[in-house]
Amino acid sequence: MSKQILILPGDGIGPEIMAEAVKVLELANDKFQLGFEFSEDVIGGAAIDKYGVPLADETLERAKAADAILLGAVGGPKWDKIERDIRPERGLLKIRSALGLFANLRPAILYPQLADASSLKREIVAGLDVLIVRELTGGIYFGAPRGSKTLENGERFAFDTLPYSESEISRIARVGFDMARVRGKKLCSVDKANVLASSQLWREVVEEVAKDYPDVELSHMYVDNAAMQLVRAPKQFDVLVTDNMFGDILSDQASMLTGSIGMLPSASLDANNKGMYEPSHGSAPDIAGQGIANPLATILSVSMLLRYTFNQAAAADAIEKAVGVVLDQGLRTGDIWSEGCKKVGTREMGDAVVSALRAL
Ligand code: IPM
Ligand code: MG
Repeated sequence: MSKQILILPGDGIGPEIMAEAVKVLELANDKFQLGFEFSEDVIGGAAIDKYGVPLADETLERAKAADAILLGAVGGPKWDKIERDIRPERGLLKIRSALGLFANLRPAILYPQLADASSLKREIVAGLDVLIVRELTGGIYFGAPRGSKTLENGERFAFDTLPYSESEISRIARVGFDMARVRGKKLCSVDKANVLASSQLWREVVEEVAKDYPDVELSHMYVDNAAMQLVRAPKQFDVLVTDNMFGDILSDQASMLTGSIGMLPSASLDANNKGMYEPSHGSAPDIAGQGIANPLATILSVSMLLRYTFNQAAAADAIEKAVGVVLDQGLRTGDIWSEGCKKVGTREMGDAVVSALRAL
């Protein structure tokens, strides 16, 4: 039976980087005879323009029917003034939640060729390979009640809620332990258990789940300390597991260790490894349409798609290898460029990966 991939380019640089990723995916489809079929739809601002909402019901139905989804990025100044409930980002949150994509994997790997593109010293980041496992469908992003109002004294007031249930914590903890088990066997759970009730439960449940993973070394860290340790000595980490908001923040931070957020892919998985794959970066409206965005995070998201949803390790490895070849050739988009390298645009970078993959 053919496998359905839904392509959602989104907004800003989304369509540009997606065009390159799709070229790579189509080549992998032929080369490794994967039997994929593709369809395309809109999300975010593009969906607001077309349907009046950031994620139309029919798009969500297509996403449910697909085996995997490849997404670009959403949002931009054009839709910034829209009321909160139908902003472009809502489309992203809705698709994550409706598909039950609770496990967000954000690897921060430093390609040796890019050690000088990092804002940190080479010796601090050389060889870095950290995986952030972010809980994606709970916590403060979705907690109720939430809202805003004007108090009797005329002052404006707004609030959010940070809830976590035992089952939400244990299932993401298991993903963290499972990942650590096949990597460096170290899991650091990040919370704010010295202040937050939800974090106290988080820590308790992670401790309980740890009993099933005696081969994985578990540690706990407060999020403020984790933020500091990530820039002080990031190589102490193997896998980090954390809640939705802490994971949002720490994954952006971790990305800069690798030189550019333009290099970081991500996978958002449900309980059966069905997944949505997207670059960790945003829609970068400031450079949209200029053909200069880095497509590698999206191309590497294709590799994660092959690896996690379809178990196609050989094809996934080949794409990663092709990216390595292109970096060895000295090709760089502006975000990862350094002296002595050749600056290229989005399409040239995509074409180079395609050629390298074809030649493998
Ligand atoms: C991310 C993004 C999203 C998030 C936004 C666009 C809603 O920052 O995927 O990290 O906060 O989850
Ligand atoms: Mg983010």
